Amino acid sequence: MSTQRTSWGSRLGFILTAAGSAVGLGCVWKFPYVALNNGGGAFLLIFLAITGTLGYVLLQMEMALGRHAGAGVYGTFRQLGGRYWAAAGAMAVLAAALVLSFYSVVGGWTIAYGVKAALGQLTNLPPGAFEPLFANFISATGAPLLYHSVFIALSLYIVAGGVQQGIEKVSKYLMPLLLMLVLVLIGRVLTLPGAVEGLRQFLQVDFSRVTGQTIIAALGLSFFSLSLGLGVMTTYGSYMGEDTAVPGSALWVVLITIASSVLGGLLVLPAVFAFDINPGAGPGLTFISMPQVFAHLPAGSFFACLFFALLLIAALTSSVSLLEVVASFCMDQFGWSRGRATIVPAVLILLAGIPASLSFGVLARWRIGGKTVFDALDFLTSNLLLPLGGMASALLASWVAWRALQPHLARNGRPPSAATRLLAGVVGPLLIGVILWQGLVS
Ligand code: PHE
Repeated sequence: MSTQRTSWGSRLGFILTAAGSAVGLGCVWKFPYVALNNGGGAFLLIFLAITGTLGYVLLQMEMALGRHAGAGVYGTFRQLGGRYWAAAGAMAVLAAALVLSFYSVVGGWTIAYGVKAALGQLTNLPPGAFEPLFANFISATGAPLLYHSVFIALSLYIVAGGVQQGIEKVSKYLMPLLLMLVLVLIGRVLTLPGAVEGLRQFLQVDFSRVTGQTIIAALGLSFFSLSLGLGVMTTYGSYMGEDTAVPGSALWVVLITIASSVLGGLLVLPAVFAFDINPGAGPGLTFISMPQVFAHLPAGSFFACLFFALLLIAALTSSVSLLEVVASFCMDQFGWSRGRATIVPAVLILLAGIPASLSFGVLARWRIGGKTVFDALDFLTSNLLLPLGGMASALLASWVAWRALQPHLARNGRPPSAATRLLAGVVGPLLIGVILWQGLVS
């Protein structure tokens, strides 16, 4: 009896940790605007198809690699593949740092909006005031940088103090609360006049709007949402208990991520159309639309504050997974203490995020391939480095370490199916290669 209870505890704990990494700003902040920018319904279908097949298989590969090697992503790649594969592991660590540099900028916005809500600054505004409010906030220099630093400091505190377990316990209760709040808010949003147009944009499938860019965006978002390609799931997999099975855990993470993303879309997009917000508002979409929803609720300031606080926690359970990848690399490779291995990268990531934060204001003219620094970082990581990282894990798992991974990939004692291997070893990497090639050429 008691052994069963422990095994449940650790299995649930692992699923919550992995899902905590997956569910974050991706669902509520990124998914809605990327879906809208890429044509809605058809994009959603492609996203679902990629996440449910390739995403699911790659998630299993990444977890199994870490579980088998018992090391962070670099150590795992080196141990299983040798020097050349280790280079791919190092790339993943670098990419994790890059993602965190702009992720924490948005994490900072979440804190700022929570503070604004607490001060009652979000509710007594005329409808037209929300767009300029956001534009003024992100184009400033000091405040966004301050909040960006606070977000990094919080992540640092959690990872350096090894209090991740604490935050997982907290999120065990707070994430369901966020889910309930989102469901209530969706109920409110859908009854707003004009909301149906948002639903139509999100759900109506129109394949004539699908281009190579749509597919690349869906691939990138799928990897981003599942925290794939950066070694997060490999690092977390290394903490997996004997009694926790990879396929079942991965399936839960996929289902939770898909449900959260669809809910994020159902929450934000109807509001965008109900309040007549410019659909091209991009990264600001959620921050412009949601406060208007709260303004239409009784006790709006309270709900706004609660929403941004819970979103912050969701963001932190993702950011700590990114920082953990870098920290475990520094501990393993340089023999640093946990404190040092967290502080040094955190400071560098903080500095690296400054241009991304300022690219909405004083550095708006800096362009890389026509994109602002923020957009360029997002594009480079989500649409290139993550898919490449995922491809490397898939190839390592299915061609180099396949035999060793068998026990980890077994489901109820049965070995992984031929379809799984085909998808991980041949079809997946080919598909990623073709999609990336198409996207880069066009
Ligand atoms: N999946 C996280 C989110 O959706 C972001 C993330 C990406 C975390 C990659 C880790 C690795 O918010």
